[in-house]
Amino acid sequence: MSKIKDYLEKVAKVTDETLERVLPSESIYPESIHKLMRYSTFAGGKRIRPSLVLATHEACGGVFNNENALLTIAAIEMLHTFSLIHDDLPCMDDDDFRRGKPTAHKAFTEALAVLGGDALCIEAFEILSRTGRVDMIQEIAKSLGTKGMIAGQVVDIESEGKPVTLETLQYIHDNKTAALIRACVRCGALLAGVSDEALAKLTSYGNSIGLAFQVVDDILDEESTTEQLGKTVGSDREKGKATYPSIVGMAESKKIARDLINQAWKDIEFLGDKGAILHELAEYIITRIN
Ligand code: IPE
Ligand code: IPE
Ligand code: MG
Ligand code: MG
Ligand code: MG
Repeated sequence: MSKIKDYLEKVAKVTDETLERVLPSESIYPESIHKLMRYSTFAGGKRIRPSLVLATHEACGGVFNNENALLTIAAIEMLHTFSLIHDDLPCMDDDDFRRGKPTAHKAFTEALAVLGGDALCIEAFEILSRTGRVDMIQEIAKSLGTKGMIAGQVVDIESEGKPVTLETLQYIHDNKTAALIRACVRCGALLAGVSDEALAKLTSYGNSIGLAFQVVDDILDEESTTEQLGKTVGSDREKGKATYPSIVGMAESKKIARDLINQAWKDIEFLGDKGAILHELAEYIITRIN
């Protein structure tokens, strides 16, 4: 486990360094929005998505410090942060804590949180455009639009307090969370230039760990503590959210997550030793405590 801890730390450092150079400075007018963008982006996320991009890139023969890979991880973390700022808004999940700090709309204003999220999203695509990789830009845009993250968020919100089938729940989770995680894996592979066959196996790996990631997020909302998680536990139950524990029970949720990780491991067997970090990242997703 310490090997993966070191890897996550190494990625967090390079992600922060890249974000530092691409995000507008707090001293640029109008200062308030630039402060908010940096407040939320540097609040201490796990940087799992950047880790997946870089680990896949390296597993497929890419170099860790490749400039296009660095721009991609910074942009992805900005996009992820945008999704969190908006997810926490009073009109969405109405949450007060994120990454161990007051949410953006609490620390600033609601209007600024909406605009700050918008700005992170828009500026992330400007940063991605610097790579000149249209294939990757399309990949990420599709994973976030109304056939990806936004679709999942719509059905998540519209399902609050209603009975939901397992099929709908899987649709929500596949879209709101797994789509971007799958895109991270695929971008790492695309940047390294892999065969169609390898890309298909890595896509399947991304789908499995992506769904497992949200199943574990649901479990942690019930079993963790606010201090450990950095966000308010029990928030899902309070909102009547469709979650794995609420629909299939806790024991079955844990079994589903474990089965998904086992499936993901099978998908990357073809990488041999080069897949070691991806293998450990999959295990981390299911054993993490925050
Ligand atoms: C939280 O993502 C939102 C979900 C998709 C469940 P993370 O758990 O990766 O959040 P950070 O980036 O570490 O704060
Ligand atoms: C959010 O799912 C997924 C996003 C696209 C942000 P959740 O609403 O469960 O995420 P948390 O628990 O607030 O981080
Ligand atoms: Mg939500
Ligand atoms: Mg939420
Ligand atoms: Mg959650």
